[in-house]
Amino acid sequence: MTSLKKIIITVDGWSSCGKSTMARQLAKRLQYIFIDSGSMYRAITLFFIRNEVNVQDPAQVAKALQQIKLSFHLNAHNGNNEIYLNGENAEPYIREMKVAEKVSEVAAIREVREFAVKQQQLIGNDKGIVMDGRDIGTAVFPQAELKIFMTADNDVRVMRRYKELAAKDSSIQMEDVKSNLALRDHMDSNREVSPLRKAEDAVVLDNSHMTPDEQLNLALQWAKEKINA
Ligand code: DC
Repeated sequence: MTSLKKIIITVDGWSSCGKSTMARQLAKRLQYIFIDSGSMYRAITLFFIRNEVNVQDPAQVAKALQQIKLSFHLNAHNGNNEIYLNGENAEPYIREMKVAEKVSEVAAIREVREFAVKQQQLIGNDKGIVMDGRDIGTAVFPQAELKIFMTADNDVRVMRRYKELAAKDSSIQMEDVKSNLALRDHMDSNREVSPLRKAEDAVVLDNSHMTPDEQLNLALQWAKEKINA
């Protein structure tokens, strides 16, 4: 029996354009591992907030990183790989607004990126992986066989993130979500270390006017072309 070739698929793009949802479904259909790299930056940020780490102080950042152990564990109920911070499931906390407000600042720190990228590359060693983020196709897996760059209209993205947050917290204001997204887009694409940008060999998926099924089918078609190449 010939086994199918395994590839690396990267999904980069702006905040809240549905990268994780699409990447998770794609991984499921291909029976690949799905890793949400943003959850790593969010878990590191959660640790920094809880321990009042001054991000301007390199010594404090270095010491904090030595105290952080990140791992992913499969949740048998929902089939998702969930992030653990020093043995604690961090998923319930990392999507909160206070983390969202700080994460781009933390993710811009060179040492933080080196710490996260090293682990991301280890996880991808055996291929058969879909990883989403901002620099996965450019810095983490520049050799990936399929690179998808996702985008969507700004208003569509704001509404999606608002609905996601409002489902958990009815005090969330649309204006706050809008300004947080604009700020994160700006910081993520203007930082010095591996800023968000489309890899030259990435294919663009603009899902502003697509249903989830339509975008999944398109991505699956691209993946199968690469797997069968
Ligand atoms: O995908 P997300 O919104 O959960 O990501 C949270 C933040 O982490 C985002 O504002 C930028 C940062 N990030 C990054 O710099 N590089 C990645 N590969 C993934 C996320």
